[in-house]
Amino acid sequence: MFFYMPTKVYQEKDVVINKSEEWCILGNRALIVTGRSSARANGSLADVIAALTSNKKEYVIFSEIEENPSVDTVMRARDMGISNKVDFVIGIGGGSPLDAAKAIALMIFHSGKDKDYLYTKGSDEALPVVAIPTTCGTGSEVTPYSILTRTELLAKGSIPHKVFPRYALVDSKYLGYAPVSVLHNTAVDALAHFYESYINTNATDYSRMMVEKGLKVWARSKDVLEGKREVASSDLDNMMLASSMAGMAISMTGTSLPHGLSYPVTVRRGMPHGMGVGYFQAGYLREADKTDRDNVLKWSGFGDADELADFYSKVCTAEKLDEEILILSAEEILSNEMKLKNCPYIVDREKMLRIVGVN
Ligand SMILES: [Fe+2]
Repeated sequence: MFFYMPTKVYQEKDVVINKSEEWCILGNRALIVTGRSSARANGSLADVIAALTSNKKEYVIFSEIEENPSVDTVMRARDMGISNKVDFVIGIGGGSPLDAAKAIALMIFHSGKDKDYLYTKGSDEALPVVAIPTTCGTGSEVTPYSILTRTELLAKGSIPHKVFPRYALVDSKYLGYAPVSVLHNTAVDALAHFYESYINTNATDYSRMMVEKGLKVWARSKDVLEGKREVASSDLDNMMLASSMAGMAISMTGTSLPHGLSYPVTVRRGMPHGMGVGYFQAGYLREADKTDRDNVLKWSGFGDADELADFYSKVCTAEKLDEEILILSAEEILSNEMKLKNCPYIVDREKMLRIVGVN
């Protein structure tokens, strides 16, 4: 058993500015990595620039990270970082910019390697990374994972390198600017991280401690997601905290079948990540050990798996997936030993088809 979480986490209002003297020591010239627009709209980019400026640090901005970032985008950002001689990387946004920031920091450090190094085992050394989440699902600010899309293979997958951010600066004020669909889909992603971490071969008392407490925090704001009351700033705090706790849980255990099943759905049908992983949760839980299932459902405020499925259809409004993609996802994961081994129960083809909803 182990517990390893080397990221220093601060969650408080105006943390980027208030803790700037501390985190700005990491380097002298930063590469700021963001998506195309949200970091400007929610004020996080302005805070980072103000913090760097007041600490007399230089910076360049790469603001072209797309959803489900590709290896090619990572390599373009890496080239920008190298030519500008940056010595640390700041990722701002949802999972896509944060995951990309880790891969970029790795590839700037290993500047002599080509893109194949991303998916080759080797040194994990990277430039220091500061992660500033602006959505409530990825947990990427406290995980070592970087999930990239390999466009030529029509595949999405985690790189084998582990890059923990040095700092996670969590300020829920940015989440207040997220569109409702992003809030909903990312909150469901966090829920999926909890479930898949708890029902996981690698689960330990440490990781389960994080899941139990984290789900109770998540459940405090569940009725906001269901539209039963207006969102308050304490809900944004709860959702950000739950997301980071879920990230800590999966940093110990990894995810399980639903995440693996969702990747083909995202790459081939364009379904957002949280919606994709949420699609398979009820099926995953129904096949799990009853005590485990009852525990996680109770802590997250659901009576049974059917209630969870109803919540999912209400909150994520996903279209029913066609049988072709469901069978393809099932077949792909049945041949993926890495993902199968995280599932604590035996899964044959018949059970897998039940999980994805093909009978
Ligand atoms: Fe996820």
